[in-house]
Amino acid sequence: MADIFEVGIVGSGIMGAGLAEVAARAGHDVVVRSRTIDGAEGVLRTIADGLDRQIVKERLTADQRDEIVGRIRVTDHLGRLANCDLVIESVVENLEIKKALFAELEQVVKPGGMLATNTSTLPVVELAMATQRAELVCGIHFFNPAPTMKLVEIVRPVTAADDTIGRAVAFAERCGKDAVVVEDRAGFIVNALLFPYLNNAIRLCDTGTASMESIDTAMQGGCGFPMGPFALLDLVGLDTSLSILDALYDEFRDPNYAAVPRLRRMVAAGQLGRKSGHGFYPYP
Ligand SMILES: NC(=O)c1ccc[n+]([C@@H]2O[C@H](COP(=O)([O-])OP(=O)(O)OC[C@H]3O[C@@H](n4cnc5c(N)ncnc54)[C@H](O)[C@@H]3O)[C@@H](O)[C@H]2O)c1
Repeated sequence: MADIFEVGIVGSGIMGAGLAEVAARAGHDVVVRSRTIDGAEGVLRTIADGLDRQIVKERLTADQRDEIVGRIRVTDHLGRLANCDLVIESVVENLEIKKALFAELEQVVKPGGMLATNTSTLPVVELAMATQRAELVCGIHFFNPAPTMKLVEIVRPVTAADDTIGRAVAFAERCGKDAVVVEDRAGFIVNALLFPYLNNAIRLCDTGTASMESIDTAMQGGCGFPMGPFALLDLVGLDTSLSILDALYDEFRDPNYAAVPRLRRMVAAGQLGRKSGHGFYPYP
């Protein structure tokens, strides 16, 4: 099994920054590619700010921060990913955009380089088939926030070689994560079970059963969840949540996956959760 040294991350959103930090903390050289250099530099700032907060809490030293940040390079040029042993794509949850990106990665990443997606729901096999190296493509699905969440789902499309899945598991474990291998079905394990619950929480509120604050309090206190469904939707991002529900509904046609109208309207209004400053709750 070939080792993974240099890791490329494509995407500079919530997850792109988290993945870059996780891989750098594990000792990998990391290259983050965003479409704009501002976006790419923003990732470095987000990571450095997060690490500074860890120093204040005495969970990290200044030397460790410098070492982690020192392993991360940023670029707006896809060609800088050429030498990566593994590239993890984490751009917007849209199949056509991701397929086009995989076709581009096929052109620039060295032969033998693994290509992975952080998609929450989309068919990994379609991304694999957009390349000439389907056996080297799989899903490596981290959770938000990536530096603190322990789980990684390793998603096996029918096209993946066993060695690819083994290398992905080894990478996740080197990042300090618990890896579970799952077949390539929309939502994998966690989101297939989580999103009907989140969707039904909005429905419950909309039928007047309880306020969203009461529902959040109830699910924290009654089920021991660290946060309620509305706070979690805001953390995930309402646009990402809507895309996940749409992908689940497309695949299974189960009414529990049919996104409630309020979610779709909020996304149309640009109320995307924490990242836009307003979702179910305000984030001034
Ligand atoms: N948010 C979560 O909780 C979460 C958790 C696990 C996995 N994911 C997955 O991670 C991926 C990214 O999600 P996120 O939450 O970081 O989203 P985000 O909205 O924070 O970031 C999306 C990124 O995609 C880029 N982008 C947008 N349009 C693009 C295009 N046309 N071409 C290339 N890049 C484009 C944006 O510039 C941004 O860098 C998605 O596949 C999502 O399903 C999200």
